[in-house]
Amino acid sequence: MKHNFTSGPAILPPPVIEKAVEAVKNFNGSGLSILEVSHRGEDFDAVIEEARKSALEIYGLGDAYEALFMTGGASTQFALVPYNFLNNKAAYLDTGTWANKAIKEAQFFGQTDVVASSKGDNYNHIPKGYQVPADADYFHITTNNTIFGTQLHHIPNVDVPLVADMSSDIYSREIDANKFHLIYAGAQKNLGPSGVTLVLIRKSWLEQVKRAIPTMFAYKTFVDNLSLYNTPPVFPIYVMMESFRWIKQQGGLKEVEKHNNEKAALLYKAIDELPLFKGVAATEDRSLMNITFVLSKPELEKEFLKLTEEADCVGLQGHRSVGGFRASTYNALRKESVQALVDVMTAFSKKHG
Ligand SMILES: Cc1ncc(COP(=O)(O)O)c(C=O)c1O
Repeated sequence: MKHNFTSGPAILPPPVIEKAVEAVKNFNGSGLSILEVSHRGEDFDAVIEEARKSALEIYGLGDAYEALFMTGGASTQFALVPYNFLNNKAAYLDTGTWANKAIKEAQFFGQTDVVASSKGDNYNHIPKGYQVPADADYFHITTNNTIFGTQLHHIPNVDVPLVADMSSDIYSREIDANKFHLIYAGAQKNLGPSGVTLVLIRKSWLEQVKRAIPTMFAYKTFVDNLSLYNTPPVFPIYVMMESFRWIKQQGGLKEVEKHNNEKAALLYKAIDELPLFKGVAATEDRSLMNITFVLSKPELEKEFLKLTEEADCVGLQGHRSVGGFRASTYNALRKESVQALVDVMTAFSKKHG
């Protein structure tokens, strides 16, 4: 079995893949594939309803919230959030490439204040000690910076609605989701295949929408129609439902987080102790999901990558804006996979150290 460290679309739990395969062949024993059933049929109705309820339940969100299944990826949310909610001005924390792209989209709709940025340090840390203007319509954060390997370990307390792009750390740890007015995430890291975007929204916020918004760009359409105004991405939603079942079977977010912590600790220990390796992100902001590191002898990169591939570790090439390596350790990645990578690092250090 390959050790899949890819950043996304990414590893899924084997039982989820097995269920997906089964549903593609014969969905619910209906003799039809999940790929060929109506989104208005009874069987799919049960799927979307379970996915919707689980999305809220796992994060401890009650009736004040709705879970929406949208399309267009997190990148579309970069525009939909300001389209719906930027009336006066919005505040953004610039922690990486994706945050930056979100900021660019907000600028189409109104004043966009960047309260702090770590761009000058190639986003190797999360800025702290910033002020969020009290009159901002919302404050947007990116909880995990997939490319640079940093993560917000403390969700900021602010007096304005809090919005988060959680694409790469959704359901990876216990958080107080009630702190947020809106959370969004493309499914393709911790939840399923690409093609569906999960949005968790505090419904009362819709009262603040002041613009006339085309139907499919308005969160209200998805809230009012429980994501069934048009044809939703049926198969990705099915897989997401199975991922939620898997999370519950693991013992919920408490256990998922424990496992993620153990994996990250194992890999960061190797990075810190083996002289040939060096972490990219500031220690206190290190991500539990995307672990970035470089070699102190960059000329050995190709050889190291070849050895990892020989050990069946795939997807470790770092993003071009950081270089080096990135091990994505999403929920479904097993500790054995991290150990396999650490074994290669240890042997490589012995040879070259
Ligand atoms: C944190 C973050 N935000 C946004 C995106 C973009 O997501 P999508 O490709 O679903 O638009 C990504 C993709 O990797 C991401 O990691």
